[in-house]
Amino acid sequence: ASVPFVIAASRYPVRELNEKPQPSMLRHLTSKIKSTGPVTVAEYMREVLTNPVTGYYVKNNMLGPEGDFITSPEISQIFGELVGVWILSEWMGAGQPKQLQLVELGPGKGSLASDVLRVFGQLRSVLGGASVSLHLVEVSPALSRLQAQNLTGDSSQEADAEDEPVYRSGETAAGLPVSWYRRLDDVPTGFSIFVAHEFFDALPIHKFQRTEKGWREVMVDIDPDKEDQLRFVVAPSPTLSSSTLVQADESRSHVEVCAEGGVIVQQLARRIAEDGGAALIADYGHDGTKTDTFRGFKGHQLHDVLSSPGSADLTADVDFSFLRRMAESDVACLGPVTQRTFLKNMGIDSRMQVLLRNCSDPSTRKQLISSYDMLTNPSKMGERFHFFSLLHHSRLAKPKKVEGLTLEKRSPAPLPVAGFTKLKFS
Ligand SMILES: C[S@@+](CC[C@H](N)C(=O)[O-])C[C@H]1O[C@@H](n2cnc3c(N)ncnc32)[C@H](O)[C@@H]1O
Repeated sequence: ASVPFVIAASRYPVRELNEKPQPSMLRHLTSKIKSTGPVTVAEYMREVLTNPVTGYYVKNNMLGPEGDFITSPEISQIFGELVGVWILSEWMGAGQPKQLQLVELGPGKGSLASDVLRVFGQLRSVLGGASVSLHLVEVSPALSRLQAQNLTGDSSQEADAEDEPVYRSGETAAGLPVSWYRRLDDVPTGFSIFVAHEFFDALPIHKFQRTEKGWREVMVDIDPDKEDQLRFVVAPSPTLSSSTLVQADESRSHVEVCAEGGVIVQQLARRIAEDGGAALIADYGHDGTKTDTFRGFKGHQLHDVLSSPGSADLTADVDFSFLRRMAESDVACLGPVTQRTFLKNMGIDSRMQVLLRNCSDPSTRKQLISSYDMLTNPSKMGERFHFFSLLHHSRLAKPKKVEGLTLEKRSPAPLPVAGFTKLKFS
C-alpha cells in the first residue's frame, strides 16, 4: 500500500494466525490490497462473505449443530409458525388483498419459509381465495439448492441464462410458486410481506473511529511484518464514507454503519408505501448505542475476524435506530421489541401448552422445553434478539372523527399489530 496509513488503536490487536489460512480468499485479498491499497471493512466483509467464487455464504452450509452457528428457525418450528401467524394477521389488517407475496431475505436452509407455509396450509380457510407466492432473495447458489430441496423437493429448476433475475424457480407440494432472486430489486412489485431473519447482520458495515482530526474510516491492510496476515488501520484522511455516513451529533467514539442495510430498508419502505404490505426484521442489535460489535463465528465459537478469511461467518449487530431513520419518511416503524416479548405476545406459551399436552414421549417433551427456553430465556436468545417492523402508515392511523356520525358508524379502528401488542388468546 502506497498511502501512509496510521496504525489503529490497540482495540484492534494484530493477532497471530492460529490456524491454516484459507489460501484462495487470503491471496485474493492481499493481491487486491497490494494493487489498490487498504480496503474498507465493508469491502472486506462483502468479499469474505459473498465473493461469487470463494465467499463464505457462497460455498458453505454453515447453519446447524455441525456448522458455525444456529438460528431460531432451526431451533424450533414454533418460531416459524408464530411468524406465519404474524404474516396472516398483517394480511388481514391490510384488508385481505387478493394477492399475497411472501418475500424472505436471506432464507438460510428455508426452514422459516417452510414453517410459515405449513401455517398457511393449516389456515387455508382464513386465506380464502388469495393467491400466495413465495419469493426468496438469496445470494448463495449452494444455499438456494438446499432451500429448493426443503421447499419444493426435486421440482425446482435453474434458469437457462446466468443473468436471469429469477435464477431458480419451482413449486411447493401444495402448488405455490417459489422464485429465487439475487437482489430485492428483482422481486416483482405488489402487496408483499417481507421477512428478514438474521439477514441484516450479515450485510457489510463501515467502521469509523473518532480521532483528534475528526472521524476516520477503519480499513483492512496487510501486516508489513507478516505477508500472510491482515491488520486494521485507520485512514489518515477522510473517506467519502467517513464524511457522509457519521451523524453530525454522534457522541460515541467508534461507530459502525451498514450503508447497504440502509439502502435495502429504504427499498422495503418505498415498496410498502406504494404497494402495501409490511416487513418483519428480526436480528440481534441495538438502538444506536453500541460501538464495536464486528465479530466472527466458527464452529459455534468466537473467531478473529481477520484470521483465515472465508472460513468463518462475519457479523455485526444491527443498528435499529439507523434502519428507522432510513425508513420512517415512507412507513410507520414499530419496535424493536425483544424476541421474548414478541413471541410471548404472539402466544408462544399457549402453543407450548398445546404441544406438551399432545406429547407423551419424555425426550420430545424435554426437547420442546429446552428449545422454548433457548428462544425466550432473557439470558439466551430472549433478550439478545429483537423484532422490528415496517408498516404502511394506514395500518396505525386512527379513524377520523366525522361530525354527526355516531361511534358505531365511524370506520373501525385498525387491528392491533400482533407481536408488538399484548393480545389475548383464548
Ligand atoms: C445468517 S444467515 C441467516 C439464515 C436464515 N435467515 C436463518 O435465520 O436461519 C444469512 C442469510 O442471508 C444470505 N445472504 C447474506 N448476504 C446476502 C446478500 N447480500 N443478499 C442476499 N442474501 C444474502 C445468506 O446466504 C444466508 O442465507
